[in-house]
Amino acid sequence: MLQKPIYMDHNATTPLDPEVLEAMMPYLTYAFGNASSKAHSFGWNAEEAVQTARAQIADLIQCDPDEIIFTSGATESDNLAVKGIAYANRKKGNHIITCQIEHKAILDSCKYLENKGFEITYLPVDSYGMVDPEDVACAITRRTILISIMAANNEVGTIQPISDIARMAQRHDVLFHSDAVQAVGKIDVRVDDLGIDLMSISGHKFYGPKGIGALYVRNRRPRIRIEPLLHGGGHERRLRSGTLNVPGIVGLGKACEIASSRMEKEGDRLRVLRDRLYQRLISQLDHVHLNGHPTRRLPGILNMSFEFVDGESLLMGLKDIAVSSGSACTSGTSESSYVLVAMGVEESLANSSIRFGLGRYNTQEEVDYTAEEVTRQVRHLRELSPYYAIIKQGKANHSMDL
Ligand SMILES: Cc1ncc(COP(=O)(O)O)c(C=O)c1O
Repeated sequence: MLQKPIYMDHNATTPLDPEVLEAMMPYLTYAFGNASSKAHSFGWNAEEAVQTARAQIADLIQCDPDEIIFTSGATESDNLAVKGIAYANRKKGNHIITCQIEHKAILDSCKYLENKGFEITYLPVDSYGMVDPEDVACAITRRTILISIMAANNEVGTIQPISDIARMAQRHDVLFHSDAVQAVGKIDVRVDDLGIDLMSISGHKFYGPKGIGALYVRNRRPRIRIEPLLHGGGHERRLRSGTLNVPGIVGLGKACEIASSRMEKEGDRLRVLRDRLYQRLISQLDHVHLNGHPTRRLPGILNMSFEFVDGESLLMGLKDIAVSSGSACTSGTSESSYVLVAMGVEESLANSSIRFGLGRYNTQEEVDYTAEEVTRQVRHLRELSPYYAIIKQGKANHSMDL
């Protein structure tokens, strides 16, 4: 039996894996110690749990456990990376390179720095949402201190050529940060193989808890200088003061461990479901468009525009299917998605876009139901659209002329 409502918004957030909850439970109840308490077993137990989680995360992204700095989520990780590097390297330079389709946590940190005298280059993307590594190379100057390009986009799922960009950064001796929130736990992201110096992670995007994240900060060859944003007890190598969120950290670690073992198989399954949804929609509806790269895309993400239909009205019509139009983090505003606009998608098409975010618990039956419901709603809304009627009329007249 099909359970409704159907959740298909896994890029906004994911449900907590029951195994993750189970791992966290002791630390939410009887094992409540402060990981900084050095004088008793409550503290030692908490510290041990934190070290286990560090090792689980390090295993997934292939780094040393002590290169992980725990934060409250990726918004904080992004802020710490961008502002922390900017403040610590001010004498060296004041130029940062990023791209137009980054998450607001990066873009707004950069805007903030612009007001403090930093110069930011916001690189364009192509129609698939891809950054050209040559553009990165051309933008580097003697004053460039940081390049920050996301691993995969949260709205369209396009995967960036991260290792090529990292190579450009290395060649010019510039630090490279990547917001890998949407990629970690979904596709292989190994910091050393890719050449990443700093990387943001968030627990709730891959079946871990909300309110916990991490910043990977490479501590070898050469050591990275980074200014903390929070001052206090000097936790996390003095980079992030504040009592550690032990249950959250344990949950993040467990989510990484589960992803390490299941990611590949789950990715294959999601690709099949995602492509099935796409095929069904394009076979049943005309005037529909795929947003994002056709192949270099995250397994579970499908962003499509339905011409002659307002995305918000379509969302309203899909009462028992949870999907999103534009980015969930910024929805509530009716502006066109800045990601789609940067990709050159026409405003009316951008406003007719829906993001389907498939995840671990979605089934083929749910995909088929979603395809039917979307088709029904799009047809219904188009019946009300004078433009669609004109287009249809024009086509009918045209075929009679032939
Ligand atoms: C690419 C990207 N970066 C950063 C964030 C912010 O993450 P958090 O919710 O952990 O602050 C998100 C969340 O949507 C995201 O998709």
